[in-house]
Amino acid sequence: MMVPQINFPKHNLSISRLVYGIWRLHEDKLGFGEDRIYEKINFCLGLGIDTFDHADIYGDFENEERFGNVLKKYPDLKQKIKIITKCGIQVPGAKFPTKHYNTSKEHIRYSVERSLRKLQVECLDVVLIHRPDPLMDPSEMAEVFESLIQEGKVKHFGVSNFTTSQFQMVQSKYNRPLFTNQVEFHLFCTEPMFDGTFDQMMEVGIHPMIWSPTAGGKLFTPKTDLESKTLTKLQEIAKKYGASVDQILYSWFLNHPAGLVPILGTNDSKRIESAANCFSFPLTRVDWFSILEVARGREVA
Ligand SMILES: NC(=O)c1ccc[n+]([C@@H]2O[C@H](COP(=O)([O-])OP(=O)(O)OC[C@H]3O[C@@H](n4cnc5c(N)ncnc54)[C@H](OP(=O)(O)O)[C@@H]3O)[C@@H](O)[C@H]2O)c1
Repeated sequence: MMVPQINFPKHNLSISRLVYGIWRLHEDKLGFGEDRIYEKINFCLGLGIDTFDHADIYGDFENEERFGNVLKKYPDLKQKIKIITKCGIQVPGAKFPTKHYNTSKEHIRYSVERSLRKLQVECLDVVLIHRPDPLMDPSEMAEVFESLIQEGKVKHFGVSNFTTSQFQMVQSKYNRPLFTNQVEFHLFCTEPMFDGTFDQMMEVGIHPMIWSPTAGGKLFTPKTDLESKTLTKLQEIAKKYGASVDQILYSWFLNHPAGLVPILGTNDSKRIESAANCFSFPLTRVDWFSILEVARGREVA
């Protein structure tokens, strides 16, 4: 079964229901040269995964360029994929002694134009502000978002790791709908379901993207009692459905009515393929709650 698309009706754009994340591209045991990246992009496309989640900072600022070199060599790929990238985090180094955020119009423009050059594309499908900047000025952000869209450099802007009020503040100054709020969400971080983050996405009619769906792999290498019990529960449910643990995990996300879009972090082709086959195991409400209960260590009130 191919990974389906999920439509963002306000944006006239659909992306694959599972997105492939580029954060750990350079950790791939099989390497991260052009041939391996090309193989992985094609592998994802073969499964219906056509959307790739970047950030300027991934791989010490080199993963966009590694990916872009492949797009330059195989330009036909550009029509087949959708690119999401992020900006706004300034890592300490030779240029700056202090880690900080920069959401000024100059920096957003600089970063978008740098991503275009590195990725070797004419236009970015989606650009997200990576982290909420305490010094962000929503009017200034909206102004540069609009200019970059008018110039044809970006199709849509969104945010990541924003609270509901931060999302609302930026949206209130921006005349187009923000694309998403990309947030951390997994079995050990379920707050977005209870703090209004997902409610807000449903209210405004957009889909949350969720990062670290396997808790950075912690789910598969449990160290605490809670983590062990969660894995055991997933194994029990997986057996019942004739599925694998990861498939039950991804299926658990699909039950949420906000239309969550998990971003896969694995470099392992077999694991990517397994995730892509998670759509055949819709969970019952009781099974869904039984997983939530174990992962949170308490039943719902
Ligand atoms: N917006 C943000 O602030 C933000 C922050 C973090 C990440 N992200 C995005 O989210 C993406 C995914 O995050 P993530 O990499 O943390 O995802 P993740 O799936 O939670 O973690 C990936 C790690 O878990 C392991 N893993 C995954 N599936 C596994 C399985 N079935 N069995 C055993 N181990 C497994 C992987 O190892 P193997 O490679 O060996 O399988 C890898 O080390 C990133 O690439 C990035 O695009 C965004």
